[in-house]
Amino acid sequence: MYDILQKKRDGLKLSSDEVEDFVTAYVNGKIPDYVAAAFLMAVFTKGMDSEETFWLTQAMMNSGVVLAPGSMQGFKIDKHSTGGVGDKVTIVLAPLIAACGLKVPMISGRGLGHTGGTLDKLESIPGFKTELSPRDFAAQVNRIGAAIIGQSKEFVPADMKLYALRDVTGTVESIPLITSSILSKKLAEGLDGLVMDIKLGSGAFMKREEDALELAESIITTGRRMGKKVAALITDMSQPLGRTVGNAIEVKEAISGLRGEGPSDLMELVYALGERMLAMAGSTRSPSEARGVLLRSIESGRALDRFRDIVEAQHGDVRYVDHPELLEVSDKTWIAESPESGYVRAIDAYKIGSACVELGAGRERAGQEIDRRVGLVVDKKIGETVEEGEPLIEIMCDDASKARSVHDYLISAYEIGSQKERPPDLVHRTID
Ligand code: URA
Repeated sequence: MYDILQKKRDGLKLSSDEVEDFVTAYVNGKIPDYVAAAFLMAVFTKGMDSEETFWLTQAMMNSGVVLAPGSMQGFKIDKHSTGGVGDKVTIVLAPLIAACGLKVPMISGRGLGHTGGTLDKLESIPGFKTELSPRDFAAQVNRIGAAIIGQSKEFVPADMKLYALRDVTGTVESIPLITSSILSKKLAEGLDGLVMDIKLGSGAFMKREEDALELAESIITTGRRMGKKVAALITDMSQPLGRTVGNAIEVKEAISGLRGEGPSDLMELVYALGERMLAMAGSTRSPSEARGVLLRSIESGRALDRFRDIVEAQHGDVRYVDHPELLEVSDKTWIAESPESGYVRAIDAYKIGSACVELGAGRERAGQEIDRRVGLVVDKKIGETVEEGEPLIEIMCDDASKARSVHDYLISAYEIGSQKERPPDLVHRTID
């Protein structure tokens, strides 16, 4: 292992055996976290070429069960985001696509760095289980069209361990590490097609367009080399998506989306990704036809029904789906007020995500318990007018000292100007 570390530290290319040896040794508990952390940091600083990235993805995928495409019937499709702030798209999109007749076998992630994670959010629903055996996972997908689980000892254990370590060692924003983390999970699902949501902007891991494009290319190239259909949308993350950031509070907002009452940017992104998924599966002939199918699935209540089915199948309490007001969000609110009047010019979504982690919604140490009740309500977004003293953000948190510690930092995330700013486009680019 020492030789492998030295080689990567010196910027040399690893062989496929070396990459596989590292992954196997770490998964089998043969090397401690500090050695794995050094490996991750070496990859973070020196990078990996496309061949090494492919080997790493393959070794991580093979660290657990890989479902055969034949274990589930129909076209199996998934979407995955590279990570954002307020990104609750999966909670709306997975049941929506299942309601449109496709199969969605989904292995998701927890919070990573300053970004939130679908599994942490869904676990706000009492009883919701994010671990299923491979057999139960495939059976649920066959029965109700979708399942949302996490990495486990059975599914991609390599990503389970490396993801938790990256979260707390400053090694998240690396193209080969993000590519292998995402694709090892997706390829273990036995899917036919994948639509990637590559986030770009202050709340994303990729803050410059050229980096987002490089990440898209890395994921598309590696995914296709594994024989899968892959498309990518580069989407805006220059401000939080929707109006909420946290865990329980985001599930509430996602349920409002499934009821047809979601915020427009969240729903616009759900439909843009959904259109691409339906097109990839060959279910519809054009994006406008796909849009109609998606809208009808929301309006008819079929997508919400499917979400209820998923929650029930994964042992969650379905009363929380029909009465999202039961979801526990702290009832103590602190207001971050605007220091001046004007228009919101820009928002540093990284600061908003980090403040939420500091409140307890994410982890600062591996394995740390999180607080699903804390959250933020984003009252003002780019292009909106604000008066001095009006709320920019509301902080929902029981602990006054924690709320106070993020208050000024949150205000500093806002840039207020005198000219009206056009809200950013939601989809910057589509790569097929
Ligand atoms: N999502 C993942 O699953 N892994 C990453 O590294 C980033 C986003």
